Amino acid sequence: MSAHQILKVFVTRRIPQEGMKILQKAGLCNLSVWDSDEPVPRAELLKGVAGAHGILCLLSDKIDTEVLDAAGPNLKVISTLSVGFDHLAIDEIKKRGIRVGYTPDVLTDATAELTVALLLATARRLPEGVEEVKNGGWSTWKPLWLCGYGLSGSTVGVIGLGRIGLAIARRLKPFGVKRLLYTGRQPKPEAQEVDGEYVPLDTLVSESDFVVVSCSLTPDTQGLCDKTFFSKMKKTSIFINTSRGAVVNQEDLFEALSSGQIAAAGLDVTTPEPLPTAHPLLTLKNCVVLPHIGSATYSTRGVMSELTANNLLAGLTGSEMPSELKM
Ligand code: NDP
Ligand code: DGY
Repeated sequence: MSAHQILKVFVTRRIPQEGMKILQKAGLCNLSVWDSDEPVPRAELLKGVAGAHGILCLLSDKIDTEVLDAAGPNLKVISTLSVGFDHLAIDEIKKRGIRVGYTPDVLTDATAELTVALLLATARRLPEGVEEVKNGGWSTWKPLWLCGYGLSGSTVGVIGLGRIGLAIARRLKPFGVKRLLYTGRQPKPEAQEVDGEYVPLDTLVSESDFVVVSCSLTPDTQGLCDKTFFSKMKKTSIFINTSRGAVVNQEDLFEALSSGQIAAAGLDVTTPEPLPTAHPLLTLKNCVVLPHIGSATYSTRGVMSELTANNLLAGLTGSEMPSELKM
């Protein structure tokens, strides 16, 4: 490639201006942007990436062999505005020598904070309470009305004590959590900070009052939370998922919630996204569903956008990326 070659970059969505400014200022690339808040249709994605040296994508863009073929041999870098990378065909990308940038760390605090908010909203039935105030269901103070479950003295189980899992544990401990269990592929030295006990999945599921899923989506974790899993949970326990929807078998979750097998669930992620408004889970009072807003603070999204742009530029110029995915 000549020193002055203009590099073609396809950006699959309108992103926070922080990142766009960096890309524009670099003057290195010919930017083609799907300038919308809605996802790029597949046919436009395939057209847009043709001949691209770089792709800046989102977690909703499936970057598979078809997209890589459509991009062709110029493609040097894929930079995703997310820490999750389950939407990328990593084996194929690696085989082609394409580098991948992603956004770990910068969204950890925001996502952990949202997870705590969702857990409290679910366990203390906040959406139901708000609804009762609005619809006139609030007649008087009633000793047995709208009771839920508290964290004090509880056992919390974190599935996947990674960056976000640990940040969730750190935030939950001061609520008076008695035991903090975690599971994963191996024990973590950093778990000491939260007095975390490494236990087998079955132990975590059966002993926890709150089960929090914060692992990455992999072939091993896909469908991990299924009928058998829910059948081992206590009837009084709360299930929280802020990782990826596909970790959960939603039919089995519906059954567990509607039969009283578990007390309640809070989900920030679903399959599909968006969850159709007629979905059975949305008919349940004991299921709180959020529209995948874990990292959605203004500042976090701004920093994610900057990091994604800087990763992309580093990939284009063959220099060190601020956050490169080690494949
Ligand atoms: P990390 O890589 O730091 O953590 C992932 C964790 O998953 C690791 O602790 C890993 O354990 C664990 N894990 C992997 N395989 C298994 C398994 N088979 N069983 C149990 N645990 C497993 O990533 P982050 O904490 O930064 O992010 C985690 C995920 O959160 C992302 O992949 C993304 O899907 C999701 N996310 C969701 C957001 C939202 O908006 N709701 C926002 C940001 C992220 P080990 O280390 O032992 O391998
Ligand atoms: C991610 O980064 O993987 C989240 O799902 C969105 O911030």
